[in-house]
Amino acid sequence: MLSRFPPPFGYEGQGRVMARQPIVQGGGGPGDDDQHRNAALRPRWLREVIGQQSVKQRLEILLRAAKKLAEPMSHMLFDGPPGLGKTTFATVLPNELGTTIQMTSGPALTKPADMLPFLTNVTDGSILFIDEIHRMPRVVEEFIYPAMEDFRVDIVLGEGMSARTISMPLKRFTLIGATTRSGMLSSPMRDRFKIHEHLDYYTVDELAQIVTINSSKLNTVIAPDAALEIAGRSRGTPRIANSRLWWARSFAASERDGTIDLATARAALAMAEVDQLGLDKQDRRYLETIIHVFAGGPTGVEAMAATMNLPADTLSDEIEPYLLREQMIVRTPRGRMATRKAYEHLGRPWDKESDQGLLFD
Ligand SMILES: Nc1ncnc2c1ncn2[C@@H]1O[C@H](COP(=O)(O)OP(=O)(O)OP(=O)(O)O)[C@@H](O)[C@H]1O
Ligand SMILES: [Mg+2]
Repeated sequence: MLSRFPPPFGYEGQGRVMARQPIVQGGGGPGDDDQHRNAALRPRWLREVIGQQSVKQRLEILLRAAKKLAEPMSHMLFDGPPGLGKTTFATVLPNELGTTIQMTSGPALTKPADMLPFLTNVTDGSILFIDEIHRMPRVVEEFIYPAMEDFRVDIVLGEGMSARTISMPLKRFTLIGATTRSGMLSSPMRDRFKIHEHLDYYTVDELAQIVTINSSKLNTVIAPDAALEIAGRSRGTPRIANSRLWWARSFAASERDGTIDLATARAALAMAEVDQLGLDKQDRRYLETIIHVFAGGPTGVEAMAATMNLPADTLSDEIEPYLLREQMIVRTPRGRMATRKAYEHLGRPWDKESDQGLLFD
């Protein structure tokens, strides 16, 4: 059994991270600074994870069962928009189980051989985490099917007539996949995960709890109404709440006495150009583009991406999910459209009543 003491502050992973390869972030992903900050604030135990109650309850059952049955946990897939806690859930599990975790990501695995060091390092019951698993090439995917099902891999030695396949047994490990796009995962891959958990946006109260806990981790005093203000403008996303908190803390240290009260939080958010709904400059630029350039839509994501000079993935993975959820935009068979709420939010006159039929094409 490994030590259960939490690793030192700032230590990147949870559990013991073995043979860890750098996690390759997708386009538009958070930078190094952001990664470091999130790692420092990431909960280490399930009881420290806020919200996602039903996911937590199911995981508690699986953890207890794995311990009682002395079996590895089933392979698990976490999906949901960026920053909602997929990596957090994956990294608390090895702590709870007292086991190790190896971490890699889909884009880092270009060929089956890239998987071998990880598969040969697994121990009974340990966890192998693959982030952005939908970006794993098909050949690697096919290579790990037998590893997931029967805990073995088939390795081809030699070439042509003399080629032969040897089957190598593996320890019984748990594969945890994370994806922002479960729709892009092939169905044989999806079916091999017995547990599939979807993470959804957080309520303002849950985010306020996260902000309060994290500010005490950062030795910063925050007033309850200031925590609510930051939470309310964090787009339902803990990672965004963390960056808003980080900024408010710097602002308070530089411009005030270091304490984050409501006025300080508001001034900090105003300076960061985060509006009442939590939209930032990039979100507003999206709405302005669709309204000004595309006359409110409908328009395709590629055309929007080209006009905004951003990768289409950044729009569809990071910007659009929250705008859709807030009903600032809608997706129709003919493309994205700005809604009345978007026009009103930008202070633009809404003159499209007659076009609403488009939504029901
Ligand atoms: N349920 C939670 N309770 C407390 N803090 C959380 C929770 N979920 C996420 N966080 C905080 O938000 C940060 C970002 O979460 P995490 O890195 O797990 O998101 P993710 O879903 O893996 O994102 P991505 O898709 O970009 O990889 C964490 O470092 C942690 O500080
Ligand atoms: Mg992650």
